[in-house]
Parts: sequence; C-alpha cells; structure tokens
Amino acid sequence: MTPKEAYDTLISEVVKVSLLLSVRGLLTWDQRTYMPKKAARFRGMQYSVLAEYAHDFITSDRFRSLLERAEEGDWERNSREGMNLFWLRREYDHQMKLPKELQLRIVKLATEMEVLWREAKRDDDPSKVLPLLKEMVSLKREVAERLGYENEPYDALLDGYEPGLKATEVEEVFSYIKTETVKLLRKVMEARERGKVPNRELFAGRYPVARQREFNLFLLREIGYDLDAGRLDETTHPFAVRITPNDVRITTRYKEEDLPDGIFSTLHEMGHALYGMGLPEEWFGEPVGNAASLSVHESQSRFWENVVGRSPEFWERFYPYLRAFFPNLYGAPMEEFVFLINDIRPSFIRIEADELTYNLHIILRFELERAMINGQLDVSDLPEAWNEKFKEMFGMEPPSHREGFLQDIHWYSGSFGYFPTYTLGNVMAAQIRAKMSDEIDLQRAVREGEFARILGWLRSKIHRHGALYLSKDLINLATGEPPKAKYLMDYLARKVERFYG
Ligand code: CO
Repeated sequence: MTPKEAYDTLISEVVKVSLLLSVRGLLTWDQRTYMPKKAARFRGMQYSVLAEYAHDFITSDRFRSLLERAEEGDWERNSREGMNLFWLRREYDHQMKLPKELQLRIVKLATEMEVLWREAKRDDDPSKVLPLLKEMVSLKREVAERLGYENEPYDALLDGYEPGLKATEVEEVFSYIKTETVKLLRKVMEARERGKVPNRELFAGRYPVARQREFNLFLLREIGYDLDAGRLDETTHPFAVRITPNDVRITTRYKEEDLPDGIFSTLHEMGHALYGMGLPEEWFGEPVGNAASLSVHESQSRFWENVVGRSPEFWERFYPYLRAFFPNLYGAPMEEFVFLINDIRPSFIRIEADELTYNLHIILRFELERAMINGQLDVSDLPEAWNEKFKEMFGMEPPSHREGFLQDIHWYSGSFGYFPTYTLGNVMAAQIRAKMSDEIDLQRAVREGEFARILGWLRSKIHRHGALYLSKDLINLATGEPPKAKYLMDYLARKVERFYG
C-alpha cells in the first residue's frame, strides 16, 4: 500500500466513523431540549456505546498501521492531508497515553460530582463537593503527567482545548488585560458615582415570551442565519450544536422581565452557528473540517453578540423594530437602551458580567486552576483563595460560595484549562473587528443591515479554513498578526470613553 492509498483508506474510514458519531450532537440537542426525563439512563448508555466505539476504532492496530503508512507520504504541513494526519496523530497519541480505566474513572467521577455540586451550590456548602474536587484535580494531574509537558502540568490540559498554547503565553496576555481593565474600571466607577448610570426604570416591565420568540427569529433572519439549515429552541443553558453542515441548531432562553438577556444569548449562539455553517462542507467528517479551536469558536460568538450586537449602529437599525414588537419601549430613548446593554458594573457572577469585567472573572479562574493543577494551591484552600483574589480584583467579597467558587460547572465536570478560551475569544473578536474595519466600513454595514458583507469576510478569512491551521496561525493569516490583547483593550477603552467619558 502506498502512503497515498493508506491515507485515502484511513480518511474514508474516519469519515464513516465521524458520520456515526455526529448523531451524538443530535442526542445532546434532544437531551437538553425535549427529552423526557425518564430517558436519561438509556441515553447515558447510548453515549457510552458511541464513545467506546470511537475509542476502539482509534486505538486499533489497523488505525495505527494506516496512520503510520500514510505519514510516510510527502505532505505539506498545512495541506488538507498534512493537517488531517496531524490531528489524527494527536488524537491517537492522546488516546494511547491515557489508559481507558483512567478515562472512565474521570467520566464517572464527573457524573457523581455534578450531582453533588448542584447540592453544594443549593445549600452553599463547600464540604459537599470539595473531597471529590480534590480527587478530580489529582486525576487531572495524572492526566497531565501521562500526556507530558515542557514547562508545567497545566500546559498539558490547556493544550486539550487550545492546541499548542502555553500557560506562559496566556499569562502574558492576561496580565496586560488585567492592568488595563483595572485602570478602565476605576474610571467607570468614578463616573458611576457622579451619576452616570443608565435609567433601568425605563425598561422595567414585562416582555411576553411569545413576542420575544418572534423578535429573535426576526433578528436571525435579518442577519442571515439559515433557518432551513438550523432551528431556534429554548433551554436553561443556551448552546449551539453542529450536527452536520446543514443542520446547525441554536438554543436560547427568555426571561419575561429581561428583554436583552434573550436577545444577546441568541446572538451569541448564532455566532457559533454561523461558524459551524461556514466550515467547508466537503471536509465534513475529516479533522480539518472542524472548527480551529474553542477560542476561535468563541471569537465568532462574541463578535456577533458584542462587537455587532452591542454597537449603537446595530440598534439604529433594529430599535424601531424592537419598539414595534414591544410598544412599552416607546417611552425609552434608543440611546438609553444602548447604554443599558453596554453598562459596566462589577458583579459576582461571570455569566452576568459586562464586557469589561468579564475578563477579570476569567483571569481569576485561570490563576486558580493553574495553581491547583501545578500543585501550588491545595483544593481545600480554594474557597478562601477565591474570595481573597476576588476582593483583590473587584474590591468586594462574595457574600456566599454560591456566588463564589461554586458558581460555574466547569471544574465540577472535570474541565480544567477551558476558561482561558473565553477571554482569548474576546481578544480575537476585537482583533478581527480591527482588521475587518480596514477593509469594510463596519459601522455603516451594520447600520445598513449589510450583514452578508460582514459574514462574507468571516467566511473567507476564518470559516472556510476549518482546522487547517492552529488558532494562532489562523488569526495571523486572517489579520496579519498573532492574537494581541491590544485590540481588545483599545475597543474597551473607546467603549468606556463613549459611555462614561
Ligand atoms: Co460561547
């Protein structure tokens, strides 16, 4: 068998397995939207069988020998073939380094811990979950040791979410963001004390969910999300899922008393979905047909949610429609609405945070999880460490652990190294915005509703490349520079100036 023949055989089998595994997306969507409660146990078994099938496929001798033979070919690194082999080799090594028992133990522990975490959160009682978290951290440290790293254990876990990225690089980006954010926040707080705050009273009231549903669908259509290749449904924790290239679904949530919440949650998930719809269809099932990384994914959601959706131009276009849908807004000027959705005020909860302080929430989590994984912070000291750090960064102490270290599910489902991707997504979104603005009049395009031009830019510079490049290289290719936090901080400084200056 020539390397080319080995490659072709390998890829055709990989694609077949991927097609089978793509039903997982459908199962997840169903589970988080309409699945009857009693279906949970067998649904769990369905996932396990699929996971086991995938594991056996990739760790088989046949897979290894096809991969090795294919790798003898003379492929260019960033060609479709070269990158497919890069991702497959990475996945193969990963699976071989981690014994199946260890992986199963982690899955089992995570399932148990999620239940206890909910109880700990409900009762505001850390002791319910800390012992299991301690066990999880030690298992994750074992994973890091087995996977290997150059500088520190945490890198091995970070690499799982953001291939090739090192903690020291994250630290450099984050320390700049931290310093600049604290400066901007001081400015905002002074202005707030002088009475510069949006008039929330103007927006108090009820916004019927049925009307919200219609408005959100209207927005999706206007922007260009293809409802014949997707759906909008409702759930508690909104998400987007790409089942196949022409079936990329989103979910949102509506609060009757909070109109912006649903809108921005829809725009966020739409951003993820537009990326999923723009990935090369003919590469579906091959590793290069996937998104480049989590942070690139998040850059797309934040771009539509924040850069576009919170801009004054967006509401110059849509506020008249919003009023037509919700006549109670006739007493509220557009400028006040724009201020409301851009208001900056520190809060304890990450998912309720504004664009500026959001990154501080992430930096706090990054520093703590890095210290835990590297063995510098004992899990039993986490609650105090969290509160101390929070006070240092935000100037206030969480009134409860529920509003402190127990708020997010990530650690309690075994995800360490995931948090940084949120802020890196913000970094990339702002950089993309800057570069795009050199080429098209972004503000005008938004005001005129020329979303196809914006989406076209993203399609050609980001989406169509799939996972042909590591995220750093992709951003470099799209914007002429590797990710730099300067663009994010410039963007946020302008925002602070506009609303609080
Ligand atoms: Co997201």
